[in-house]
Amino acid sequence: MAVKNAVGLDIGTSSIKVAHVQETKKGVQLMAFDTIMLPPDTIRDGQILNAPQLVQRIQELFTLNKIKHRQVAVSLSGHSVIIKKISLPEMTLAELEDSIQWEAEQYIPFDIKDVNVDFQIIDPHAGQAQMDVLLVAAKKAVIEEMCEVVRAARLEPVLVDVDAFALYNAFELNFPLPSDQTVALINVGASTININVVSGGMTSFTRDITVGGNLLTEEISKQFAVPWEEAEHMKTTSETTLSMSGVLREVQRISGRVSEVLIAEIQRSLDFFAATAINADISAVYLCGGAALQSGLIEGMERRLGTHVRALNPFNNVVIDPKKFDTALLQRMAPIAAVAMGLALRKPDDR
Ligand SMILES: Nc1ncnc2c1ncn2[C@@H]1O[C@H](COP(=O)(O)OP(=O)(O)OP(=O)(O)O)[C@@H](O)[C@H]1O
Ligand SMILES: [Mg+2]
Repeated sequence: MAVKNAVGLDIGTSSIKVAHVQETKKGVQLMAFDTIMLPPDTIRDGQILNAPQLVQRIQELFTLNKIKHRQVAVSLSGHSVIIKKISLPEMTLAELEDSIQWEAEQYIPFDIKDVNVDFQIIDPHAGQAQMDVLLVAAKKAVIEEMCEVVRAARLEPVLVDVDAFALYNAFELNFPLPSDQTVALINVGASTININVVSGGMTSFTRDITVGGNLLTEEISKQFAVPWEEAEHMKTTSETTLSMSGVLREVQRISGRVSEVLIAEIQRSLDFFAATAINADISAVYLCGGAALQSGLIEGMERRLGTHVRALNPFNNVVIDPKKFDTALLQRMAPIAAVAMGLALRKPDDR
C-alpha cells in the first residue's frame, strides 16, 4: 500500500491549523481541515510559553475532527531557522552530504553542534564550476521542544519542515506555473511574515520577518484602551456591527497605517532579493495568511510593489467532497490554510 501522507499541523501564534489529505486517482483529496484558536501568550515571539495549553488544543483539534492518523508534519519559522543560498565548488551529492556540516559552519551564526543542517541543490551547474545550494539550519533545542509538544499530544512527529517551504508545496500543487516565471509567495501571519521567492521552479530566496497582524491588534488595543481580545475582535468583526459608531472608520485608518508598515518591511526584503538575483523581475505576488485580510494590505501591496497580488488559495486544485465539507466555510478559512496544506502534502519518509 502507498505510504500515507502525514497530517499537517501548523502551530501558529494565534491559532493551530490541521490538514489531512489523501492522494487518489482524481488528485489530492481533502480528508480534514480545521483550526482552533490559541489564547494570547500561549506562544510569544516564537517561544512556547504555555506547553500544556498547546497540547490540550492540539488534542481537541484531532478529537473534534476524528483524525485517527497519528503521524504529523510540523514546521518552524522565524529566528530559529536560517536559510541561505550559498555557492560551492561542484561536487556529487555524496560529497556534499559529507562536507555540508563543515561548509555550513561559516554561514551559521550559532554553534554548529546546536543546529540540524539540511540542504537542497538548486543549481548543480551555476557556472565557473560552482553549484548553488540552499542551506537550511534549525536549532536543535527548538525542534526538540516542538516534537515534545507533539508527543505529549499522543502524536508522532515524523517531519519538521519550514513554513516558507510548506508555503511553496501548497503553491506548487495549486498553481502550476511555467517555470521561467519568478513569483513571490507571502504569508502574513499574526507574528511572522514568511516570504519565499520562487524562480525557475525552485526556491530562490526566503525571509521571515518577525512582525504581522499582532501589530494591528496592539495598535487598536492602545488607541481604544481595550484589552487584547477585544481589539482582536474589533479588527475581525464584520463592518456592519461597527459602522454605526464611527469606530469602523478609525479601525480602518489604523489598519491602513499598520499595513503600510508591513508592506515597507516586505518591500525591503524584495528589494534585497532584487539586488542579488539574476531573474529579479517578480511577475506576481501570491498572498495568504490571516493578516492579509486586514484593511489596506492588498491594495497597498499592489500599489507599492507594482505587481499583481493574487490569493494563494491552497484548496484551488484540491478535490473536496461537498457532502463532507461546508465549502463556503472552507473558502473563508483558505487564507490561513496554506502552511498546514503544504505540510499535509509531505510523506513520513520525505527528506
Ligand atoms: N478579517 C481579518 N482582518 C484583519 N486581520 C485578520 C482577519 N482575520 C484574521 N486576521 C489576523 O490574522 C492573524 C492570524 O493569521 P494566521 O492564522 O495566518 O497567523 P498564525 O499562523 O496564527 O501566526 P504566525 O504564523 O505568525 O505564528 C491574526 O493577527 C488575526 O488577527
Ligand atoms: Mg502561520
